[in-house]
Amino acid sequence: MEFIIKDLNSINAVAKDFLSKIGDNKIISFNAEMGAGKTTFIKAICNVLGVTDVATSPTFSIVNEYNMPNGNLIYHFDFYRLEEPEEALDFGLYEYLDSGNLCFIEWPEMIGNLLPNNVLEVSIKVKENQERVISF
Ligand SMILES: Nc1ncnc2c1ncn2[C@@H]1O[C@H](COP(=O)(O)OP(=O)(O)O)[C@@H](O)[C@H]1O
Ligand SMILES: [Mg+2]
Repeated sequence: MEFIIKDLNSINAVAKDFLSKIGDNKIISFNAEMGAGKTTFIKAICNVLGVTDVATSPTFSIVNEYNMPNGNLIYHFDFYRLEEPEEALDFGLYEYLDSGNLCFIEWPEMIGNLLPNNVLEVSIKVKENQERVISF
């Protein structure tokens, strides 16, 4: 499945379309280079889901929690600064992943084979014209 974000004006519409296609998947990883737009797209998804607290880059805090209007939580991980995968176990990775809440993961490659196999692996590519291609 593929989605094109032509520019930031259309990102919420794309996020809505994306959400309608992920089925029952709760754990979603985003593979993309630095600056490709992982945080920005996750923020757009959170907006569509009614999150009102600002979803800024969680780069310095590894996991951020956002509240949905229905009381459910969203977990947003950024593993960029992990020194080693085991650090994720120290803060209770699987308690988050097994919670049944939506989990969005930036830099999933940093936790290597600790990722469960029920992850929807999404990639983001930047085209020459700066459009983003989201695919899974
Ligand atoms: N779809 C997009 N179209 C244009 N610019 C974007 C898009 N997504 C992100 N950007 C811009 O790219 C920069 C990096 O985005 P960010 O989401 O922080 O990337 P990442 O989390 O992948 O490192 C930001 O300045 C952001 O505004
Ligand atoms: Mg980011």
